[in-house]
Amino acid sequence: MNKLKQLSQATALCALMAAGAARAGEVEVLHWWTSGGEAKAATALKATLQKQGHTWKDFAVAGGGGDSAMTVLKSRVVSGNAPAAAQIKGPSLQEWAREGVLTNVDAVAAAGKWDEVIPPVVANIMKYQGHYIAAPVNVHRVNWLWANPEALKKAGAKLPTTWDEFFVTAEALKKAGIVPVAHGGQNWQDFTVFESVALGVGGVDFYKKALVQLDPATLTGPQMEKVLATFKRIKDYTDKNAPGRDWNLATAMVIKGEAGMQLMGDWAKGEFIAAGKAPGKDFICAAAPGTQKAFTFNIDSFALFQLKNAANQKAQQDLATAIMSPEFQELFNLNKGSIPVRTGMKMDKFDDCAKQSAADFAADAKAGTLVPSIAHGMAVPAAAEGAMKDVVSQFWNSDKMTAKDAQAKLASAARTK
Ligand code: GAL
Repeated sequence: MNKLKQLSQATALCALMAAGAARAGEVEVLHWWTSGGEAKAATALKATLQKQGHTWKDFAVAGGGGDSAMTVLKSRVVSGNAPAAAQIKGPSLQEWAREGVLTNVDAVAAAGKWDEVIPPVVANIMKYQGHYIAAPVNVHRVNWLWANPEALKKAGAKLPTTWDEFFVTAEALKKAGIVPVAHGGQNWQDFTVFESVALGVGGVDFYKKALVQLDPATLTGPQMEKVLATFKRIKDYTDKNAPGRDWNLATAMVIKGEAGMQLMGDWAKGEFIAAGKAPGKDFICAAAPGTQKAFTFNIDSFALFQLKNAANQKAQQDLATAIMSPEFQELFNLNKGSIPVRTGMKMDKFDDCAKQSAADFAADAKAGTLVPSIAHGMAVPAAAEGAMKDVVSQFWNSDKMTAKDAQAKLASAARTK
């Protein structure tokens, strides 16, 4: 009798294991998180998925800002070989959904009460025709200035809060033999700096009209001329090795004190943290000059592609569930430099930069001063963004192009469909 019982228990266990094995799937995930802090954050995502018994297939395409990753993604989807999940952001999510290649995660979203825990401004981006087609991981703030306090001290310079002060500080750093501005001359980095200047010099209303609504009169108007002139002045304070440099190498210059400042989103904080540096002590985070009362947001999210294999479909839905879990949101964002996208999260493990970001995100959402980052795919369709980004870099790199020339080109690039 006992033997029989043992046997049936063993059979039940085998059946359970077989069912488990059948349920375990593989998720191939496309992303571009290859720098120090980014890689740590990606590892957190991988570990979360593996904990559920699934297999993670890494599909990392290096290149800050993700342009290379998007090119590779297009060719994979066109050849009928889409990954399970891909880091896709902003209006591009809608473009992919329109192609009919994404799967919806409504069941996961309903079970996880996403409508209650995702701010509406974010939820709208994650939905296509009312259905969730992507899972958000974080909120990055783009309008930050990073500084090395030692370098500022050596130069007898102060942390700038306006663009006039910025150039005074830059001049002092230069005199002290320190590279004033760490920069990587890649078009997305040029565009990242440009949007912070646009916000700081032009203000929120100008930013919305010019870089969200793409209003031709604003793009060709006097304020944009001032923005472009200010933007171009920054170039004199970058070093001769800037062209082509990766953003994380620029951040490393600030970490080491070779450079004084960097204008970059808070994925840069992930680099400082990965290097063992502490905010307020080894580095300073501050709103980019003139942008204290505004917030350019950049939300990383994973879109899920239609798959045929049932086990992989299950793994894919589990990934979406895991992404929105409070545990994952905390661990991931502590490494990534961003803040959780999920509302109501405890921030006690986060540093002062993240706490400031979270407080400002809420305040700016209320005040109407929360704006989407154009340089990071949040504001306008990819075609217009790409064309405008190229114009901004041409202007940055050219000795001949005037601000007026650049304005005309920007207005025409904004019409790219
Ligand atoms: C952004 C992305 C961030 C960060 C950065 C640099 O577009 O949203 O997560 O990875 O590029 O690669």
